[in-house]
Amino acid sequence: MIKESLRLQAIKAMDHSYSPYSQKQVGAAIELSNGKTYTGCNIENSSYGGTVCAERVAVWKALSEEGPGVEIISVVVATDATPPWSPCGICRQVINEFASKNCEIHLVNKTGDVKSFTHQELLPHGFDRSALQKS
Ligand code: THU
Repeated sequence: MIKESLRLQAIKAMDHSYSPYSQKQVGAAIELSNGKTYTGCNIENSSYGGTVCAERVAVWKALSEEGPGVEIISVVVATDATPPWSPCGICRQVINEFASKNCEIHLVNKTGDVKSFTHQELLPHGFDRSALQKS
């Protein structure tokens, strides 16, 4: 179930987007199991490859402030798009690294659409540390 406060944080985070190349504002808000929340926006770069998605900015902020023990329980991704955008593959992988077992991912837009998934639905059979521990 999406929290209204997290939805609003993700939509507000769109305002800080640096997106002169795509003109697409993306905002993200994540909630941790300790109750704290962090936001991010997409930050583009003239090299294109240096662009970072809103979701990863939010995760990097949480890690750099809280340390490596963070556990993400909910993610909201906000755009102006219909249907709302879904996280790219790299962001799914990064979220997976720190996601709680039932971590929710909510895709929203300013129109009020909400599409909700678990992180496992968006990254089935994902690669994680268990593979490295076995080999
Ligand atoms: N973008 C995100 O911020 N999150 C996603 O999951 C998809 C894409 C950004 C990257 C780029 O600034 C713009 O959207 C167009 O791809």
